Amino acid sequence: MTNQKQVNELELKGENGKTIKLAVRQPVLGAPGMEISPLFSEFGMVAYDPGFASTASCESAITYLDGARGELLFRGYPIAQLAEHCSFLEVCFLLLHGELPNQAELEAFKRDLGREAVLEPSVRRVIESFPVESHPMAMLISAVAALAGVYHDSTDIHDPVARTRFANQAIAKMPIIAAAIHRHRTGQAIESPRSDLSYTQNFLHMTFGSPVADVSAQALDLLFVLHADHSQNASTSTVRLAGSSGTDPYAALAAGIASLWGPAHGGANEAVLRMLNEIGSADRIEHFVARAKDRNDPFRLMGFGHRVYKNYDPRAMIIRQMAHDLLQHLGSRDEPLFELAMQLESKALEDEYFVSHKLYPNVDFYSGVIYRALGIPVEMFTVMFAIARTVGWVTHWQEMIADPKLRIGRPRQLYIGAARREFVPLGQR
Ligand code: SDX
Repeated sequence: MTNQKQVNELELKGENGKTIKLAVRQPVLGAPGMEISPLFSEFGMVAYDPGFASTASCESAITYLDGARGELLFRGYPIAQLAEHCSFLEVCFLLLHGELPNQAELEAFKRDLGREAVLEPSVRRVIESFPVESHPMAMLISAVAALAGVYHDSTDIHDPVARTRFANQAIAKMPIIAAAIHRHRTGQAIESPRSDLSYTQNFLHMTFGSPVADVSAQALDLLFVLHADHSQNASTSTVRLAGSSGTDPYAALAAGIASLWGPAHGGANEAVLRMLNEIGSADRIEHFVARAKDRNDPFRLMGFGHRVYKNYDPRAMIIRQMAHDLLQHLGSRDEPLFELAMQLESKALEDEYFVSHKLYPNVDFYSGVIYRALGIPVEMFTVMFAIARTVGWVTHWQEMIADPKLRIGRPRQLYIGAARREFVPLGQR
C-alpha cells in the first residue's frame, strides 16, 4: 500500500517563536520521513530517539518490513514466495542486483562464488590460534577481520567492480570459515569445499565431513533465505555506520558480526535453545512466563518480541512449519523440545502481558530446533545466522558506499554529565 497523503513539509515553531519548515520525504512503502537535519543549524536543537525507534537512518531499496501487518519484502517480493520458490543463491542475487536471476545469470553467479571459495592460510591460522573451547562467534569476528589483512590493498571501495568482487568473496567465504571453525572446535581436520555440491550442501559437507540428506540441505537453505536480510537491524546498521567512515569492508563486516552476537539480536537463537533446556518440561512453563512478565526479573522470553513486528514475524511462521515437517521426516528425538516450544508459544500468546505488549515469536524462536535436528552445535547457531545475513550486510554496504550523498554517521547526544569546573591539584582534593 503506498502512502496516499502527500505531505511535503511540516512547520515547527521553536521556543524562541521562530518557525522552520521541515521537508517530508515520501517513501514507496511505509511511513513518510520528516527531514530533521536543519533542527540543529536552525534551532540549535537535536532530536532525541534512543534505540532509534522512530528514526530512519537512510533511504534503502533493498528490504521492506511492515511491522503491523507482519510483511517482509526482499526487493518487493514477499518472503513467503521467495521461501517457497527460490534457493538461497537466487535470493542472494536478487538482493545484490535488485532482480531475480535467469538461469544463465544464476550459473555465472555460482561460478563467481566458486572462484572465491577458498580458505586463505592466514585466515586458517587465525582460526587455529583459538583455544578449541572458544565461542565460535569470537573466532568468526577475527577470521573475517583477517580477510581485511589479505584483501585490503586490492580493494578499492570506490570501484564498482571491486565492490562486487568483495560481495561475492564474503558470501563465498563465510560458510567455509564457519565450517573450519566447527572442525577446529571439534578437533577434526578442516574439509575443503567441493565444486560438485550446492552452496548449502557444501557447507554441510565441510562441517560434517560427508554429504547429508537432501531434506536437511533444503531445510538449511530455506533458513538461509529467511535470514538473508532485514533492513536496518542492529548488525546491518553497525555495518553501515562502520562502513560510513570508508573503512575496509571486511572490517565493517566484522563489526556487524560482533553486533549480531548479542542475545537481543542474532544470539537469541542460541539463547532460545538454552532457555528451552532450562524450562525442561511443560509444567515449568508457567514459572518462566511469570518471570518474563516480572519487571524486577531480567529474564526475558528469548525468541519473543521484535522492535518492528507487532504481529507475527512472517519468518517464524514458515520456520515453525518447517521444523514440524523436518522433525517428522527425520523422526528426530528433538520432538519433545519442539513440542515444548509450541506449548510455550501457545501459553505466552494466551497471556494478557504478551498480547498487550504485542510480543510474538520472532525468527529466532524455532530456528534452533532445526539447527539442532541438523546436528549443528548450539554455540554455532548464531554463526549460521551470520552465514545467511552476510548477503544482507554486503548489499547494504554497497548501497551506502555507492550513494554520492554518503556522509560519515556521527550522532549527537544529550549531555548529562558534570558542568564546566576548574581543575583542583592533587594536594587540595
Ligand atoms: C532479531 O531488528 C531486527 O530486524 C532483528 C532481526 C533480524 O532479522 O535482523 O529480526 C533478528 O534480532 C530478532 C530478535 C531476537 N531477540 C530476542 O528474541 C530477545 C528477546 N526479545 C527482546 O529482548 C526484545 O523483544 C527485542 C530486543 C527483540 C526488542 O526490544 P525493544 O523493541 O527495544 O523492546 P523493549 O525492550 O523496549 O520492550 C518493550 C516492552 C518492555 O516492557 P515494558 O517495560 O514496556 O513494560 O516489552 C517487554 C519489555 O520488558 N518485552 C519483553 C520481551 N521483549 C520485550 N518481555 C518479556 N520477554 C520478551 N522477550
